[in-house]
Amino acid sequence: MSSPDKTDPTAVLAQNQDVWSTIYEQRRQNLGPTVERVRNAEATIASDMANSHGARCAWGGELLERLKGATVLEVGGGGGEAANLMLALGAERVVTTEITPEAGELMRALGDELGFGDRLEVHIGDFFTMPLGSPHSYDIVMAKQVLHHITTVDEDRFAARLAEMLKPSGMARVMDPAVNSKTLDALRWAVPVPGRPSKLFQPAKFAEWKANDEHPERDNSTRHVLELLRRHFGRVDVMVTGAVARYHRLINSDRWHGPAMAALTRLDERIPQRVQMKLGDNHGFSAYEPR
Ligand SMILES: C[S@@+](CC[C@H](N)C(=O)[O-])C[C@H]1O[C@@H](n2cnc3c(N)ncnc32)[C@H](O)[C@@H]1O
Repeated sequence: MSSPDKTDPTAVLAQNQDVWSTIYEQRRQNLGPTVERVRNAEATIASDMANSHGARCAWGGELLERLKGATVLEVGGGGGEAANLMLALGAERVVTTEITPEAGELMRALGDELGFGDRLEVHIGDFFTMPLGSPHSYDIVMAKQVLHHITTVDEDRFAARLAEMLKPSGMARVMDPAVNSKTLDALRWAVPVPGRPSKLFQPAKFAEWKANDEHPERDNSTRHVLELLRRHFGRVDVMVTGAVARYHRLINSDRWHGPAMAALTRLDERIPQRVQMKLGDNHGFSAYEPR
């Protein structure tokens, strides 16, 4: 099977539209679990942050404090969980964007079910050109697990658009999986996981999987993203984690996985950031002073 060019913005966007429209169409058949999570928003975030190192990068720092009364712009809002959680946690209004009508329908359905419909605005289309209101009009700009879906060609436009929409006193949060060690990354691809064959031991099957995978080939290191954001924001803080918790998949037990994940996440907090910058697999950036 021939693989689309994973550095070409048009090919990557088309593949993302294809993959995510199917996922979100299926997810709309069962809103229940997400509705439940949003109805218990404070407990959900507290539990996610205690049990998942990625969630710490998404919701940590001063984001939660800044949400009260805030106007939020979210790019790549996906199934709408984060947008609705932010509304439940005190945001005044959330404008969220996506690339397929299926995501839009799911996000609107969720907002209506939760009674947030009038404070949730959903825009479908091209984030770079869609009208999103006046420049510098949002208190918070959120890109959760989206930048790693954007090609290198487009990444400066992407960061510039985040900065363009953020108030001078506002905060942008960019959170993604990170690739900080080539060796650990090679090991990751060598170990098969459900749905993904081993690159080392099943190369043909892996190539087929890779052709269907929507992620672009790009630099997802913390250093690279930090440099990118610094070109568009006057101040950027970073949190990297996962040097230890990244091994959670090795705990192959329904009973012990949850407690082990919580313990590994706590252990990660004790590891210095300079080590996490080399070994961590999730990063969250807080960017201020849009240029
Ligand atoms: C891993 S999901 C994250 C969804 C959500 N933010 C979350 O954290 O659950 C990545 C999302 O990025 C969206 N996406 C991919 N390419 C995009 C683009 N060029 N512009 C905006 N969103 C994009 C996809 O549709 C998908 O919903």
